[in-house]
Amino acid sequence: DKEIKILAIESSCDETAAAVVVNGRDVRSNVISSQIALHTLYGGVVPEIASRKHIEKINQVIEQALSDADTTLDDIDAIGVTYGPGLVGALLVGVAEAKAISYAKNIPLVGVHHIEGHISANYIENKDLEPPFLCLVVSGGHTHLVKVLDYGKYEILGRTRDDAAGEAFDKVARAIGLGYPGGPKIEKVSHEGNPHAMEFPRAKIADGPYDFSFSGLKSAVLNYLNGCQMKGISIVQADVAASFQKAVTDVLIGNAMKAIDEFKMDKFAIAGGVASNGVLREGMREACEKKGVQFYHPSPIFCTDNAAMIGVAAYYDFIHGQRDGLDLNAVPNLKL
Ligand code: KG4
Ligand code: ZN
Repeated sequence: DKEIKILAIESSCDETAAAVVVNGRDVRSNVISSQIALHTLYGGVVPEIASRKHIEKINQVIEQALSDADTTLDDIDAIGVTYGPGLVGALLVGVAEAKAISYAKNIPLVGVHHIEGHISANYIENKDLEPPFLCLVVSGGHTHLVKVLDYGKYEILGRTRDDAAGEAFDKVARAIGLGYPGGPKIEKVSHEGNPHAMEFPRAKIADGPYDFSFSGLKSAVLNYLNGCQMKGISIVQADVAASFQKAVTDVLIGNAMKAIDEFKMDKFAIAGGVASNGVLREGMREACEKKGVQFYHPSPIFCTDNAAMIGVAAYYDFIHGQRDGLDLNAVPNLKL
């Protein structure tokens, strides 16, 4: 059987990434050029700076991915590229690059949905994982509870009504003086904190049992901080971080378990940047064990943005016949 070798490109936010993936699950290279240090100066991602940096890095990152995989463009069967959702200027860099290579080398082009990429990251290290399964996608821009019906076939059960989980981590981290990106920093200081020090609210949504809301939780943390400041009480950063983290993970675990029961799922996966959080992973693992549900998660490097996950998704789209033309465009609010 012939190998199908995909070159994948990802540039939807603040990582410029390229990877080579063979037959959907064999990652031959995974190069990520992170702009985090650059955006840290501004406390978050600055879209214009992100686009410029992508332009500067993309060729180098692709060349590295090909050379790490010991291959050349002549051996590539398809190019997979994230075309949405994300920052439009950032997405455009990857899409234009992919189209240029596709045109110059006459290689088929496959546009990939970023969230489909995050979900597909689970296939890399779990060779036995196949749909159907339930997946919670938690990143800086998205909080989706998704039924994966088949490759490329999804049913969204719930989503956030306001902030994404990662966004809440980032905003709270900024408020307690931890800086960007907030998730890893909150997780780190939480080790020293008491998760029961404060009882922050866990939002339930009456007309959406699988939906999420994190803006109330964020406001509760901000109110608490203001109250302390007015009373001249100094905050215990680690306690605030641990209590906030506990509130977020309780809600994520609660909704996921409710959906597992309701839809009688026997496999559950997490994905996206927040899925690298240790407290969330351990909480999910325990909750799944109690139900006899098989729990899957990618390694941290495949949780945050990367191109390997885009290569996996592109492979399944490619073998199911998807081909995109040179009119492929960046779609910042692309729906799953
Ligand atoms: O998937 P990702 O790299 O980019 C998006 O598609 O948004 O996710 C980035 C998000 C950020 O909000 C970051 O704070 C969060 O994931 N994150 C974490 C952790 N590592 C990254 N949140 C909680 N705990 C972590 N260890
Ligand atoms: Zn992402």
